[in-house]
Amino acid sequence: MQLSELPTPQVLIDRKRLVANIGRMQRAATDGGIALRPHTKTHKSPLIARWQLDHGAQGICCAKLGEAEVFADAGCSDIRLPYPINPSNATRLAALMDRVHLSIAIDHLRVAETWSQFMVEHGKQLDVLVKVDVGFHRCGIDPDLQTAVKFLQHTASLQGLRLRGLLSHAGHSYNAKSDDERVAIARDEATTLRNLANESRRVGVAIDEISVGSTATALFSASETGLTELRPGNYVYYDRSQVAIGSATLKDCALSVLATVVSKPAEDRLVLDCGSKILTSDTGRGKVEPKGYGAVFTKLETTTPDDTLFIDRLSEEHAVVMAQNGSSRLEPGDRVRILPNHSCVVSNLVDTVYLVDDLTIVQSIPITARGKVT
Ligand SMILES: Cc1ncc(COP(=O)(O)O)c(C=O)c1O
Repeated sequence: MQLSELPTPQVLIDRKRLVANIGRMQRAATDGGIALRPHTKTHKSPLIARWQLDHGAQGICCAKLGEAEVFADAGCSDIRLPYPINPSNATRLAALMDRVHLSIAIDHLRVAETWSQFMVEHGKQLDVLVKVDVGFHRCGIDPDLQTAVKFLQHTASLQGLRLRGLLSHAGHSYNAKSDDERVAIARDEATTLRNLANESRRVGVAIDEISVGSTATALFSASETGLTELRPGNYVYYDRSQVAIGSATLKDCALSVLATVVSKPAEDRLVLDCGSKILTSDTGRGKVEPKGYGAVFTKLETTTPDDTLFIDRLSEEHAVVMAQNGSSRLEPGDRVRILPNHSCVVSNLVDTVYLVDDLTIVQSIPITARGKVT
């Protein structure tokens, strides 16, 4: 089947770029002597997870239990949830522990104690990693050595929990304004975690794992010493923001949205059939923030965007594109491809993506974990 035959809008995945992205990150991890555990929230597809595992990944990450249940059903046996799963989900989590090797992130003492109590009552041992705030200021304990070591000592003493180590996510790297800044964020993250691990070991608390993960820092983290695991997710597809951040080039971006021009109310204004329900309303990030809701490719290839076209606004089912030079050759019925600002959220909106080799569809892939946000 050719792209011209597919009803639009539709999410396409460039097969060669996907395979190259999986291989490149795995090689970087292997060369750095560090395990790769991809975050599956980007693709939400057990088939793509299988390809990552076949390339050498040691397991996968999910954010939510609903995702983990899908990947467990598909045969993934080692699943880490680097998310502060709340004990209100204990029964579901325990059922999953009976099927796969599961580990979760902890960053709050009362939560850790509640998990401990539940695991003791149910005769189980839950693997936990303490999440450390390395500068993103979302989740994680304060890395101040004295308080952090106390937290680790207390967690290690809780029955029913097995403290595996430390975990962090340098999400602030997405706001870095230079490559040097991303390098520095990766270096500081590794230093913070190594220092904390060493201090914990000094007082007798074993730290076997140090897990870091963000696509914008992953290739730099791979050459840091002392880390045991990388957890990038976005790298399978990359997106317009990763290009603007500097962690990918346009030729690495594997996910695009195929769309049709459905209206041309003025010479300088086109309407595409892809609105916020497929492109999402995420704005771009990067050294220079990309404007609008995606880059437009008019020739159905995805190497050179038409920079005269600007996705100015989205309704749920419409993308309003302005021709900045006053007119566009596109007419209703013409097809374009869009590189979205943020690929991970796009995957969550479709049941199926189409794997393509150039303009030929080679396979449809069900996005089985899409919508599993609970
Ligand atoms: C805890 C955690 N680990 C890993 C990742 C993967 O990072 P990225 O999306 O930059 O690949 C994320 C992304 O949100 C995350 O929240």
